[in-house]
Amino acid sequence: MKTLSRILVLLVIVGTAMLESYEDGASICERCTCMIANKTSTVLSYDLLDCTRKNLQHMINNWPEMFNTIDPEREIVLSLSGNNIINLQQLPTTITTLVFSCCHCNLETLSSGLFKDTVNVLRVDLSFNKLSGDALSRDVFRGQYNAEYNSALLLLDELDLSSNVIMQLQEDAFVHIAMLRHLSLARNPLGQITDSTATALAQLINLEHLDLSYCSLTDIDATAFDGMQALRELHIQGNLFTAIPQAVYQLFSLHFLHLAENPIEVLNIAQPLKQLVQLNVSSMPVLHTVEVESFENVKQLKIYTGSNNPALEVFDLKILRHLSFLKELVLSRSNLKHLHTPLEDDSAEQPDESAYKNALEVLLLSENPWHCDCALQRVLKYVQFSQLPHYVEDDETRCETPYVLTSLHLSELIDIEVCDQLVYDPPNSPVYEKPAFLRPRSIFLTLLSVGIVVGLGIIIGLVIVCLKRRLKTQMMAVSSPVRYTSVRESKSMPIYQI
Ligand SMILES: *[C@@H]1O[C@H](CO)[C@@H](O)[C@H](O)[C@H]1NC(C)=O
Ligand SMILES: *[C@@H]1O[C@H](CO)[C@@H](O)[C@H](O)[C@H]1NC(C)=O
Repeated sequence: MKTLSRILVLLVIVGTAMLESYEDGASICERCTCMIANKTSTVLSYDLLDCTRKNLQHMINNWPEMFNTIDPEREIVLSLSGNNIINLQQLPTTITTLVFSCCHCNLETLSSGLFKDTVNVLRVDLSFNKLSGDALSRDVFRGQYNAEYNSALLLLDELDLSSNVIMQLQEDAFVHIAMLRHLSLARNPLGQITDSTATALAQLINLEHLDLSYCSLTDIDATAFDGMQALRELHIQGNLFTAIPQAVYQLFSLHFLHLAENPIEVLNIAQPLKQLVQLNVSSMPVLHTVEVESFENVKQLKIYTGSNNPALEVFDLKILRHLSFLKELVLSRSNLKHLHTPLEDDSAEQPDESAYKNALEVLLLSENPWHCDCALQRVLKYVQFSQLPHYVEDDETRCETPYVLTSLHLSELIDIEVCDQLVYDPPNSPVYEKPAFLRPRSIFLTLLSVGIVVGLGIIIGLVIVCLKRRLKTQMMAVSSPVRYTSVRESKSMPIYQI
C-alpha cells in the first residue's frame, strides 16, 4: 500500500513535469489579435498573432488553424510581450519566416530548443526581462541537428537581449547562432567583456551590428572582436571607458562608432580605423582635449557628432587637414571658445589656409561661448563659414567675448575689423587670461554703471511726470472755471434737493 502511494506520487510529479501547460492555440484568436496577410491589400505582408498584454502565462501549443505554417514564403509575427510568462517554452512548429517577441514578460528561464521547430526564425526580441547569463545556455538557441554538418545551427539573424540582468555569458552561449548579424546586449550589467563573455562574442564572426551601450563596461578583451570582420556598427556609448578600447581597432569594417557618454578626457584615435565614416563623441562630461592629429587614422570620416561636451574649450579645425571627406561637423552645446589651438609663445605662426580645405556641408557651432578674435575670424573665413547654410534663423551661434562683440552672430564676424586692434587678439601669454573687461570685477562695475544710468533715467522720468501733472492741475484751475463750477454744481445739487 505504501509503495503504491509512493509510486502514485512519483507518477503525479513526473506527469506534471511532462505535461507542461500551454495556451490553447486553437482558440487563441478569441483572446489575441489574429490577422492574415492579404495578397489583394498591401497593408500586411505577414500573418500576425498579437497577444500583447493578454494575461497569458504560457507559450501556445499550436498555431491557430487559419495560419499557414507549411509555406516557407510566408511570414508570421508572434508577440507575447507584456505577459507574465517567467519560463519561455518551445515555440510551435512552422517553416514560415518567424519574427518573435516577448519583451516585458518577466522571463527568468528559457526552455532548451526554443526554436528547434521554427527553423526559419529571423528575429527574436527578449528585451526587458530578468534573464541572466545562466538562462542563456547553448541549448536554448540550438537548431535542428544536421548530421551532414554535425551541427545544430540556427539561422537567426537578429537577437535583442537588452535590458536584462546578464553579468556574464557562458562561453558557448552562441555557438548555434553564429550566423547572427545583429545583437544587442545593451543595458545589462556586464561590467567587462572578458573571459567567457569575450569567448562567447568572439564566435559571432558574422555580426554587423553590436550594441553594448550602457553596460557599465570598463574593459573589452583584445580578442573579443578579433574575428568580427563584418562588424559595421558598434554602440558602446554610456559606459565607463576612459579611452577607445584597444579591441575596437580590430574591427576593420567598422563604419559607425558610437562612443558618446563615456568619461574620456583626451580623445585620441590611436590606430587606423580605415572604414570609419561616422563617429559620435557627444555628451562626454570630462572631455577636454581632442587630439586632431590622431584623426589621420580615420581619413574616411564623414560625420563627426560632438555636442554637449561641457569641458571642451578648444576644437582645432586643422582636423580638416586629415578629413577631406568630412561633411558634417557638429560642435554645439559645449564650452568652445576657439577653433584653433592658442599658441603658447609669441612666434604666432600664421596657419596655412590649405590646411582647412574641406567638403563641409554642415558645421554646427551653436551654444558655445565663442571668443571672437582675429584667429577665430581667420578660421571661419578659411572654412567659408558664412557660405555654409545656416539652419535656424535665431540659432545661438554667437560671440560671448570680447564684451564689445557679445551677441554678434558668428557669420557676421567675417565683416568686422578685429585683427588690427590688439585688444581683440588673444593675449599670447602662456596662460590664457580673459581680457580685463571680462574679469568679474569689471563686469560688476559695468553692471553697476548700467544700473545707475537706468536708475537716473527712471528718476528723471518720474520728476518730469510729476511736474507735468502739477502743471496740468494748475492750468485747469486757471483756464476752465466753467467746468469747475459745473462739477461743483452737479455735486452739490442733491444736497439742495433734500
Ligand atoms: C483582402 O482585402 C480586401 C480589401 O481590403 C478585402 O476586400 C478582401 O475580402 C480580403 N480578402 C481576404 C481573403 O481576407
Ligand atoms: C550622439 O550621441 C548622443 C548622446 O548619446 C545622442 O543623444 C545623439 O542622438 C547621437 N547622435 C547621433 C547622430 O548618433
